Amino acid sequence: MKFNIALLPGDGIGPEVVDQAVKAVNAVCKKFGHEATFTKGLVGACAIDATGDPFPEETFQTCMKSDAVLFGAVGDPRYDNNPTAKVRPENGLLAMRKKLGLFANLRPMETYKSLVDKSPLKRELIEGAEFLCVRELTGGMYFGEKGRRDNGDTAFDTNLYHRFEVERILKLAFEYAKLRRKHLTVVDKANVLESSRLWREVAQEMAPKYPDVTTDYMFVDNAAMKIVTCPKFFDVLVTENTFGDILTDEASVIAGSMGLLASASIGEHTSLFEPIHGSYPQAAGKNIANPLATILSAAMMFEYAFKLKAEGKAIRDAVAASIEQGYVTEDLAGEGEKHSTSEVGDWVAAHI
Ligand code: IPM
Ligand code: MN
Repeated sequence: MKFNIALLPGDGIGPEVVDQAVKAVNAVCKKFGHEATFTKGLVGACAIDATGDPFPEETFQTCMKSDAVLFGAVGDPRYDNNPTAKVRPENGLLAMRKKLGLFANLRPMETYKSLVDKSPLKRELIEGAEFLCVRELTGGMYFGEKGRRDNGDTAFDTNLYHRFEVERILKLAFEYAKLRRKHLTVVDKANVLESSRLWREVAQEMAPKYPDVTTDYMFVDNAAMKIVTCPKFFDVLVTENTFGDILTDEASVIAGSMGLLASASIGEHTSLFEPIHGSYPQAAGKNIANPLATILSAAMMFEYAFKLKAEGKAIRDAVAASIEQGYVTEDLAGEGEKHSTSEVGDWVAAHI
């Protein structure tokens, strides 16, 4: 097969980790007889610097014309410490999600045998834990009306959800649950938030259509506790945008490093594959960041965008081997030998 892949490295460690994912993609293409063509695009702070726009039209067109988007990270301390900035790198990612209609973000949480001792959680809690977070990605507080009143002394963000947005993400979550261990947990704050009550209402209406799926409802504060005290409880967890953002960072501690969690954003147009971690500016340019989350995002790209399971598995097996054999970056190395970002990328590509 031939694939056109839009490559959006973004800011911070984005370019370094995306380079390693490209090595893995090329290795898989060589092994299985595919051909990948990459078209680079700007997004985030680097796009603001070059064009003034964090998601330039040209990048959007590149994404629309591609079969998949492989994305690194956005963010820059110049903006983090400046609450009055008119345009921010993160707006680029949000605009991209919105314009590509990427309403579902799939964030699988997995554990690796050789890493169970890297996790701050007890071995017996996490051994065998494996769940899928389905995060709504184009609604809620991220996109609802926001602003200031009273000369700037009052601020608001609106957690707005329409029924159709809730229905489509829940449908997807029920369907994933059906394909897995048939257990769906709908996470909300229905004891306080009206938007959550809409979620719960819609979920309760839909649940009877999936009789083989056990559906339960959990408040987000309770879910936050359960993720770290009883991660094996979960199979598929579905939630709104902001809760999903927070809970998936939390879930990454189960695996032992944020540098391990990959994600797929899917919806109306070209799907996007991105690590869940940010731009980690302190490490930018140092060749120390863990590239595995981005490499695993490339595996998800083969599986979800191209429907090529064996290719995805070849990448996953190589990542698992690098972890098993301790050929890893400093976040995972512990007392063992530390390898650089590019060394890990080369190792994984060679193993494929
Ligand atoms: C993520 C990130 C983004 C988000 C930021 C960079 C806007 O934290 O993908 O989880 O909050 O969605
Ligand atoms: Mn996040």
